[in-house]
Amino acid sequence: MKDKEFEKRNRTNINLMSKDLGLKRLSKNWIFNCSKYEYSYHFSWLGRPIIQFPQDIIAVQELIWKVKPDLVVETGIAHGGSLIFSASILELLGHGKVVGIDIDIRKHNKKAIESHPLHKRIIMIEGSSIDETIAKKVYRIAKGKKRVLVFLDSNHTSDHVSKELN
Ligand SMILES: C[S@@+](CC[C@H](N)C(=O)[O-])C[C@H]1O[C@@H](n2cnc3c(N)ncnc32)[C@H](O)[C@@H]1O
Repeated sequence: MKDKEFEKRNRTNINLMSKDLGLKRLSKNWIFNCSKYEYSYHFSWLGRPIIQFPQDIIAVQELIWKVKPDLVVETGIAHGGSLIFSASILELLGHGKVVGIDIDIRKHNKKAIESHPLHKRIIMIEGSSIDETIAKKVYRIAKGKKRVLVFLDSNHTSDHVSKELN
């Protein structure tokens, strides 16, 4: 949606100090506008750029700590920050591996991930997350694992995510 159209649709008089409405509107406005500045690209985790909102990083930490997975499957590696992040929590738990899948693992990212101290907990697979042969590789790695946590962060179209889920 274009900025002007978004503003017009959402223009209304609200009391920003009201508990619910003000916060909801401000949050919507913030989310919409911060994407223009690529806010989620501003962070790194233990030296690798991570493309996430800090709030989501906290949420994922809570999930990993709660589930204590044997394996974390992540689609979408990019610079490797989210792989290193999951690996770092697993390292604290003393258990578990991360398998990352990306259609295009850039050489410099691969090299940096491979030379990271947490690489011992990481397996990378290059290919599409909706390719059956790639899915089979992941199945093989997941075989025998009781708790598997999956994060889908590759192509975010509904069609693609639905195929990934299938
Ligand atoms: C948003 S980035 C991932 C960010 C990363 N999870 C992080 O938190 O730092 C999306 C990644 O998905 C990859 N990608 C796009 N389509 C894909 C597909 N069909 N299968 C696997 N990876 C894909 C892109 O190459 C890109 O590196």
